[in-house]
Amino acid sequence: MSATLSLPPFRPAWHYWRGLLQPGWSPYGNTARLLRRAPAAVDSETLWLKPFRRLRDWQPGQHLTLGFELDGRRFQRSFTLVSLPGERELAITVRKVAGGRFAEWLARARDGERLTISEPWGGLRFALPQASQRLLMAAGSGITAAMAQVRAAAARGQLAGLALAYWVRERAEACFLEELQALQARFPDFRFRLFLTGDAPQSAHEAAGRLEAGLLPALPASPEGAEVLACGPAGFVARVEALLRGAAARIATESFTPPLLRLPEAPEANVTLHLRRSGRALSIPAGTPLLAALEAAGLSPPHGCRQGLCGRCACAKAEGVHLDLRDDSVHPEASTALKLCISAARSDLVIDL
Ligand SMILES: Cc1cc2nc3c(=O)[nH]c(=O)nc-3n(C[C@H](O)[C@H](O)[C@H](O)COP(=O)(O)OP(=O)(O)OC[C@H]3O[C@@H](n4cnc5c(N)ncnc54)[C@H](O)[C@@H]3O)c2cc1C
Ligand code: FES
Repeated sequence: MSATLSLPPFRPAWHYWRGLLQPGWSPYGNTARLLRRAPAAVDSETLWLKPFRRLRDWQPGQHLTLGFELDGRRFQRSFTLVSLPGERELAITVRKVAGGRFAEWLARARDGERLTISEPWGGLRFALPQASQRLLMAAGSGITAAMAQVRAAAARGQLAGLALAYWVRERAEACFLEELQALQARFPDFRFRLFLTGDAPQSAHEAAGRLEAGLLPALPASPEGAEVLACGPAGFVARVEALLRGAAARIATESFTPPLLRLPEAPEANVTLHLRRSGRALSIPAGTPLLAALEAAGLSPPHGCRQGLCGRCACAKAEGVHLDLRDDSVHPEASTALKLCISAARSDLVIDL
């Protein structure tokens, strides 16, 4: 039998004493306690969290970035709040990605465990008060963004003119099914359809098939003139935009999977990354996302979405040329804030870290 030894991350002594005197305090900001958890689908769980400090006002559909420690390293991941502003407890629903670090943390976590939490940020929202039809389109864990809108509309008693189309492979992977069916039974003006790509449909609210032009008549509401919010993997939201552009009055999308970054095909020569605040200099391969390069060097700079969305990894650049890996654009200008997760060095860089 083999055992792995992992050392806890280094902390100054005053962090330890302050944490003892004020449970819930963290040098990384606000924290939350894991109160309880329950299965939401075959591969998903809902977690209820109690924040140490109240969050500032937020909107349904906004995200929270959680910080956690696994094997002595700190990680951050973002999740959409599925509880409503004003509720005492915060809720998130997490699909456990095989081999994922948060999934691994969750497998070991006990009730009472503490995480750091950001203030809520970003999020999809409806913006056209005059739209008579609002259509939510969700695939996989993108359902959390849609569910936040459904719950907010239900709480206001405004489900009329709202429709939800939700794609999963198998029925057992679908979250919130009972709640959605109960809402549909109670409010006939709320229309919901579950699209299955791997199971056969069994009831009136189910249909089969991937999102493509031929499936549009099966949507629970016509996209013509509708305001559409879509959330899911990058390929899914791209298809929503391609199919409904021209028909919908407005489309807003969000993807939970990292964007495809244009990484070099062969390893590039090393450059020097100077970290101004800590006075360190690292030799890193040009063309590698700076966040990944810093993590490979054992550092844990603040970050959230790893997709260029949340801005939590933004860092001032004092000198050097960097590349935006999403579109290959080159940025020689100094005193620009770059996002570590989607930027790579093109020359030696000096950044404010
Ligand atoms: C704004 C935002 C909101 C989000 N909201 C939610 C939410 O409400 N519920 C939820 O379950 N997730 C949500 N996510 C995704 C979540 O932040 C994590 O990326 C996801 O839980 C995987 O984290 P991990 O640490 O377990 O996996 P990681 O250790 O990051 O990744 C492990 C492996 O899984 C792959 N992978 C990573 N993320 C995904 C993914 N989303 N789908 C498929 N494969 C993936 C990676 O390529 C990698 O190979 C959101 C992401 C963003 C940016
Ligand atoms: S981690 Fe969110 S923008 Fe980089």
